[in-house]
Amino acid sequence: MQRTALRRPLFSSLHTTLVASISATLLATGGSALAQSAQPAPGAKIKVGFMLPYTGTYAALGSAIENGFRMYVQQQGGKLGGRDIEYFKVDDESDPAKAPENATKLIKRDQVDVVVGTVHSGVQMGIVKVAKENNTLLIIPNAGADEATGPLCGANIFRTSFSNWQPGYAMGQVLAERGMKKVVTLTWKYAAGEQSVKGFKEAFEAKGGKVVKELSLPFPNVEFQALITEVASLKPDAVFVFFAGGGAVKFVKDWQAAGLKDKIPLYGSGFLTDGTLEAQGTAAQGLETTLHYADGLTNARDKTFRTDYAKTYKLQPDVYAVQGYDAAQLLAAGANAVKGDMSRKPEVIKAMEAAKVDSPRGVFTLSKAHNPVQDFYLRKVDGRENKVSGVAVKALADPARGCRL
Ligand code: BEZ
Repeated sequence: MQRTALRRPLFSSLHTTLVASISATLLATGGSALAQSAQPAPGAKIKVGFMLPYTGTYAALGSAIENGFRMYVQQQGGKLGGRDIEYFKVDDESDPAKAPENATKLIKRDQVDVVVGTVHSGVQMGIVKVAKENNTLLIIPNAGADEATGPLCGANIFRTSFSNWQPGYAMGQVLAERGMKKVVTLTWKYAAGEQSVKGFKEAFEAKGGKVVKELSLPFPNVEFQALITEVASLKPDAVFVFFAGGGAVKFVKDWQAAGLKDKIPLYGSGFLTDGTLEAQGTAAQGLETTLHYADGLTNARDKTFRTDYAKTYKLQPDVYAVQGYDAAQLLAAGANAVKGDMSRKPEVIKAMEAAKVDSPRGVFTLSKAHNPVQDFYLRKVDGRENKVSGVAVKALADPARGCRL
């Protein structure tokens, strides 16, 4: 009690002195001292905050994104815009409830210049909100939440991956063109699954198909048996699914174990078989999916990317590694334009908006809403590869409904 009483006058007199001295300095410098204090010291590092899942069903996706990002930075001698990079990390656990607190840690505590995150669409919504409130630069290296480049779009929000609508739309078009009429969908019940199905349905039904039943289970539940039995009883022409990471491995194996692999054609957005083929083994052979990356592309950038990634990490890259690599490329476009001075935000944003990203997937540009305009490949599993068999939709742009930029 006494201690507190003693402290208060001390703090308040210190506070009064500080305020007086800051005010005097501001008056003397015409406010320029304050303006300068917002700028990084010459040669200061660029602070990058990874907010990614490092545990749970999406853990491998988070690591691949970070690997890809770091590899690009290493290839630039560890610098972007002439500045060294300092990394901060938070495991977001794919838990939307923890997203605002985790994003705030990176932005307020670590004072990062840019947040790179995340994988899960529900978590993404929390990050977008905090990034907008603080006007912090955000690069989304996976999560497809349509809102991020739709109604919640913002000048400081960029994405190097896809919107959930995009790969679903591409597959809807493919199945309609194959003359399929009656399709059942099955996903996790959260934005990624629901929005993928929405994109699928939009394209499929516009060309005469019908989604006869939409089935789902909570994320990250993997008790698929009852739903697989229900799908079989509906006797559809085909099934369209969204699953990814560890859940995708389990689903594809359960589908085969239920004896449906050669009975009902199974299709999905490419996350069903990307980064998962080793674990899925024979169960995945022959599966067709649509995605903005594939094995067997012939561009030079992809060839060197794959060789370098295999050499650096002793792993084959997947779509998540590509998206992380491209997040670093996009940041480099901004950082180079301002020689690493990330406080010059309008110029950083302008350069990022104008970037032509030389991605392993093929060169892409960003839409007005800051989402990639890109080709969607049709792929077929062959051994350990999602071999490209064609382009399902060329230069597909998300409709960005509700975005006012
Ligand atoms: C998502 O939640 O947006 C997502 C997660 C994994 C793969 C693709 C999308």
